Amino acid sequence: MTFTQQDARPELESAPGSEWWRTAVIYQIYPRSFADASGDGLGDLPGVTAHLDDLADLGVDAIWLSPFQRSPQKDAGYDVADYRDVDPIFGSLADFDAMLAGAHDRGIRVIVDLVPNHSSDQHVWFQEALKAAPGSPERARYIFRDGRGDNGELPPNNWESVFGGGMWKRVTEADGTPGQWYLHIFDESQPDFDWTNPEVRAEFESILRFWLDRGVDGFRVDVAHGLIKAAGLPDYTPDPEGGSMGGDADEVPYWGQPGVHDVWREWHEVLAAYDGDRALCAEAWLPTVAQTALWVRSDEMHQAFNFHYLETKWDAEALRAVIEESLDEYGAVGAPSTWVLSNHDVVRHASRLALTADNPQGAGIGPKSPGKPDPVKGLHRARAATSLMLALPGSSYLYQGEELGLPEVIDLPDDARQDPTWFRTEGERYGRDGCRVPIPWTADAPAYGFNETGAAWLPQPAEWAELARDVQREDPASTLSLYRSLLAERRARGLGSGSLEWLDGYGDDVVAFRNGSITVVANLGSESVALPAVEILVASGPLEGDALPTDTTVWIAAA
Ligand code: GLC
Repeated sequence: MTFTQQDARPELESAPGSEWWRTAVIYQIYPRSFADASGDGLGDLPGVTAHLDDLADLGVDAIWLSPFQRSPQKDAGYDVADYRDVDPIFGSLADFDAMLAGAHDRGIRVIVDLVPNHSSDQHVWFQEALKAAPGSPERARYIFRDGRGDNGELPPNNWESVFGGGMWKRVTEADGTPGQWYLHIFDESQPDFDWTNPEVRAEFESILRFWLDRGVDGFRVDVAHGLIKAAGLPDYTPDPEGGSMGGDADEVPYWGQPGVHDVWREWHEVLAAYDGDRALCAEAWLPTVAQTALWVRSDEMHQAFNFHYLETKWDAEALRAVIEESLDEYGAVGAPSTWVLSNHDVVRHASRLALTADNPQGAGIGPKSPGKPDPVKGLHRARAATSLMLALPGSSYLYQGEELGLPEVIDLPDDARQDPTWFRTEGERYGRDGCRVPIPWTADAPAYGFNETGAAWLPQPAEWAELARDVQREDPASTLSLYRSLLAERRARGLGSGSLEWLDGYGDDVVAFRNGSITVVANLGSESVALPAVEILVASGPLEGDALPTDTTVWIAAA
């Protein structure tokens, strides 16, 4: 079955200028862990198609799919060998088209992940580069350099990979001698492209068009802050306390270099030439909100993940500050703020918000981690945090399974772990597998309904039976019911396009604001807070009469 650009987008209100992305709630699907129609233990695109009604029922506006393109899966698909095809473990291009059409039929937009910073080492270009000589056009698509030392035996600089270990790997030249080195910010199976090379730029414009022609509504752009490296590749030693994506550090020679903005301007033009509001969302871990806002100036990307919001501790003053700063800084460039609490790279917020020890981004938690979270407190906080987030003006991102209140899986056996971080740090960092466990659909089914065979690429905890979607669907007090209520009220009241007015009088440990027809009160303190006697629209947990308990958020009808 093939679709043209027009008939793949049948039902959407996609008139230019509607700018759906400004207010959308976008649900992240991590395909390998969402639903597995083939039964091999890895989720797939037919699995997504089979559950589109559940997503419509949840009430999301769009989905973002993590990579499903051809890949050896050394970094769960973020190592792409062919940008124009679906990996057979996820299905086929026809399966993608069917999924896209099914989503559009339900009014759900579809964003796909695009990984431009690096390819897989199995990509045909990299294979050609390995066979070609130093200085050749094939090598110039990647970042090959001669080594330091008398015989080139030392890496060209001291950079350290985000996943641990060095950032360079030496190759053996065609004549069998030790040769040049290539740069890989992530795993050695993920060589970085050279984005100063026009051939690389042209190739990615063509890849954008390939997916736009199929009808996608936009792209989540992986490692958008990494494409350009500082001239001369100067040595740099990261702060050991900083997150692995360098979000806190200033002036990192491989993050946030000014030259990336030209790339986004070129991409903006490519998208603008298509009908119906296609959008680009940047994954850019940068030191400040103000710097991130430069990524979404009116001729660049449309959105950027608000990782500053995600990284904010469960603290009322800090939350008020980051919300205000985000609305100001993104507003100053005419962009919406986004909001996000979980994704496939961070500890799920039902666990993270109750951690009692520092946990740098990318470290993960496992059996030996200090400060493990109390799961009951974590879930309370997560429900309160999401209830606060979904009332904010702008666009919000959800990560599959958070609507079920899933916690991070802490006790995965060592031999089940697959994140390259775990291997490259020799177990020092657990990495991200704990937030990637296949999600539960049906309590009494093999693999909790993830598939029909019971196979699962990461083991699911026994406690997840009671978190399965079918159980929660029937329970008005469940986390799923809370998310459905929040999303329905948000949509009915147009909160995404609203505005925020802070409310005083509830005390320092409370975040309180008005957005249009609702008042939001979130109690982050240790004491209950008195509420005015008004209609409660949604509550993240049980109330104590007229009082709002700790770690609870309510939406009430504004006076
Ligand atoms: C992004 C992805 C992450 C991946 C990395 C390398 O940060 O979200 O999962 O490992 O890029 O592509």
